[in-house]
Amino acid sequence: MILNMFEIKSLLRKGIRDLEPYVPGLSEEALQRAGHRSEITKLASNENPTSPPDPVIDAICQEARRINRYPAGMDETLAPELAAFLGCGTHELIFGNGAEEIILMACLTFVNEGDPCVIIEHTFDAYETAVRVAGGKPVFSPLTPSFHVDLDDILARITPETKMVFLPNPNNPTGTVFTKKAFESFLARLPEHVVVLLDEAYHEYVDAPAYPDGMGYIHDAPLIVLRTFSKAYGLAGVRIGYAIARPDIIDMLHHVRLPFNVNRLAQAAAMAALRQRAWVQEHVQKMLGEKQFLYHALKELNLFYISSQTNFILIDTGKNADQVFQALLHHGVIVRPGTIWGLDTFIRLTVGPRRENERFLNALKAIIS
Ligand SMILES: Cc1ncc(COP(=O)(O)O)c(C=O)c1O
Repeated sequence: MILNMFEIKSLLRKGIRDLEPYVPGLSEEALQRAGHRSEITKLASNENPTSPPDPVIDAICQEARRINRYPAGMDETLAPELAAFLGCGTHELIFGNGAEEIILMACLTFVNEGDPCVIIEHTFDAYETAVRVAGGKPVFSPLTPSFHVDLDDILARITPETKMVFLPNPNNPTGTVFTKKAFESFLARLPEHVVVLLDEAYHEYVDAPAYPDGMGYIHDAPLIVLRTFSKAYGLAGVRIGYAIARPDIIDMLHHVRLPFNVNRLAQAAAMAALRQRAWVQEHVQKMLGEKQFLYHALKELNLFYISSQTNFILIDTGKNADQVFQALLHHGVIVRPGTIWGLDTFIRLTVGPRRENERFLNALKAIIS
């Protein structure tokens, strides 16, 4: 019984003791299990609301017949196809079980115990988790008063010990981007010992003309550009993301990659999805139209929102976000409460199809009136 007396938590590695496990957006299934009877609208996790087109589903079904075998390496399948699509070399690519896995791989590759890493204050939680898991020390950079990433502030926080900087462009949950000019000025002033993870998970949705395409800068700095098939490509459930970087950096990332990290179904789905450009473009166009529809409705409701370069909108409800979140749940609408990011009156809404956006607006009107 000695074991029972032992405080198992004392075995936890330093740095992760205070980490809370990631809480994903509520699923439709969870709400159904909780007894919710009426229609459920999930606008919480920035997914593509439509199921992928038939050729992608067919590719997954075909590959399902081979799942008794470990996945093949991607060097001869997905990598050449994606490299041709992007216009880069196969040796400049690495894949992950979602982009998230590559965030962790990057930290495990570069961050030593105690290394400071600069992260934006209100952003995707995976950066802080990965830095802490690797033993690093997060250093937070606040957003500007207009909720933009402050590249000057980030530079000011870099010391000779700083190992990594996380730059989401666009940022989640604000949906804001920084410009090509600002990014080039940042890179020109960046000390050469700092590895930059430029997260472009929402790249496909951006329509700002001044947006920098990170791929164009991989030879100018130790830069890892992150992309995913989870958002515009509609493959969030199979988990596949990728990074583009200099071949020497890609080689280093391979040191911590577990064998077979991307499963067969995800590889097959991504290959097929790459050939569905028209479907992706149609989704993006529809989403842009719906975003304008939501902006217009939010203006009529006199609610402040942050103009977004993504498929989600951060909205200030002027009320306690947890209460608004719960009240929306009552109406069968799932969003994300801003309290997760310390934005106590904001909710983050994923742009959905018209019918779902209308359901959200009707519920919100009932709640705030
Ligand atoms: C900024 C950002 N980066 C990365 C990811 C993770 O993408 P994946 O599903 O490929 O792990 C997300 C998902 O929400 C995100 O918002």
